[in-house]
Order: sequence, then C-alpha cells, then structure tokens
Amino acid sequence: MSQVPSPLPKTVSHEDLLIRRMRTADIPEIMLIESVSFGRHHWSPESFSFEIKNQVGRYYTLLYKPENKIIGYCGYWIVLDEGHITTIAIDPTFRGNGLGELLLVKMLDRMSGQSVKWATLEVRVSNFSAQQLYYKYHFRTLGVRSRYYQDTNEDALIMTTESIQDKSFRIFFKEVRQKLANRLGGKLPEGAD
Ligand SMILES: CC(C)(COP(=O)(O)OP(=O)(O)OC[C@H]1O[C@@H](n2cnc3c(N)ncnc32)[C@H](O)[C@@H]1OP(=O)(O)O)[C@@H](O)C(=O)NCCC(=O)NCCS
Repeated sequence: MSQVPSPLPKTVSHEDLLIRRMRTADIPEIMLIESVSFGRHHWSPESFSFEIKNQVGRYYTLLYKPENKIIGYCGYWIVLDEGHITTIAIDPTFRGNGLGELLLVKMLDRMSGQSVKWATLEVRVSNFSAQQLYYKYHFRTLGVRSRYYQDTNEDALIMTTESIQDKSFRIFFKEVRQKLANRLGGKLPEGAD
C-alpha cells in the first residue's frame, strides 16, 4: 500500500514546536534530513554521536509536536570567544517557514549568554539560500577557503558576525527576533536547556 504523505504545513506556530538538546536517540531521524540536505558531504551517525558528547559543542533538535517528528537541528562549538556554527538543517518539507532562522536565533541567543563575541561559519559558495539567511543576521564574508568541500572541491565562504555583544547588534537582533516571533504566532517556542 502506498503511503499518503502528510499535508505540508502552511504556517507553523510556536505552539507546535519544541527545541531541546540533541540526544543520541535522535540520530536515526536526523540522518534522514542530513542525507537529503548535504549530499555526499554529509556527516555520519558516528559524527553526530561524537559531537553530542563534545565538550565544546552544543547541539539542538527541533521537534514538530503534532507529529512527534524531528524537523531540524543545529549545533556549534565554543572556542574561546568564538561560536562556530558547525551544522544547521531543516527537513525540506518544512523549509520556508522561518525555522532555519529560528535555529539560528536559538544559537545566537545561547552564544550571547555564553559570552561569545563572534559567530562564525563556513558555507558553500553555491548555497545561496543559507547565505541569504546569514546575511539577514548581519553575517559578512571574511574570506574563502579554497576547495574546502572534498566531494566537489567547492570553495567555502568564511562568514562572521560583528560582535554579538555590541549594543548595535543587540538592538538589531532584538528587532529581527521579534519579527520572527510574530511570524511564528507571537512567541518563540519553548526551549529546554
Ligand atoms: C539553510 C536552511 C537551514 C534554511 O532553512 P529554512 O527554514 O528554509 O529558512 P527560513 O524559512 O528560516 O528562511 C529564513 C531566511 O533565510 C533566507 N532564505 C531561506 N531560504 C531561502 C531561499 N530558498 N531563497 C532565498 N533566501 C532564502 C531568507 O533570507 C529568509 O528570510 P525571509 O523569510 O525573510 O525571506 C535550509 O534551506 C536547509 O536546511 N538547507 C540545507 C542544509 C544547509 O544548506 N545548511 C546550511 C549549511 S552552511
């Protein structure tokens, strides 16, 4: 019998969402999103397993409560005063709802409480949608890592924020965070730890 796919949500409300720390039991579901999001360059289950236990890492899972389904995840390392984003992905059927943005906001929120000054990351030069997300949050391009992605030898852009502790960034962030909350029904979802 063929499976009928569940209808795509038109808008997603904060009430339907939960962000919590990533658990080992999440990995099989995360791998479904990982494999369609990152092609041959994707992380293995062992990489996630390692990262969850990594002392400098913070990894989060996004759940869609009505279906008890994992629909995204993200993570970063804290190295001195730098918060280095190592991964962020949303289930393709849930993209375009502000959820990638929600995970980025979650990470920036956590980083600012951990005295991080700069959020940094690498992104494929061809990954236009992710770059747009980062530009929206005032990341700028610092340079290029040549042939960084081994599957296609594609270059990576190195991106960084201004200091996320500076007043100008705090004012901007508060405003854009509020707009996202409005989009998700007035609030950002509850987050555990
Ligand atoms: C990048 C990714 C996480 C974005 O998640 P998403 O939930 O679809 O994005 P959002 O709906 O939160 O979009 C937030 C902003 O990102 C930008 N953006 C997202 N998708 C875009 C697209 N297809 N085209 C242009 N801009 C886009 C826009 O600035 C958007 O803001 P807006 O809604 O005000 O226009 C998602 O596309 C993904 O999982 N991609 C595969 C994994 C990946 O490439 N990760 C990044 C590795 S560096």
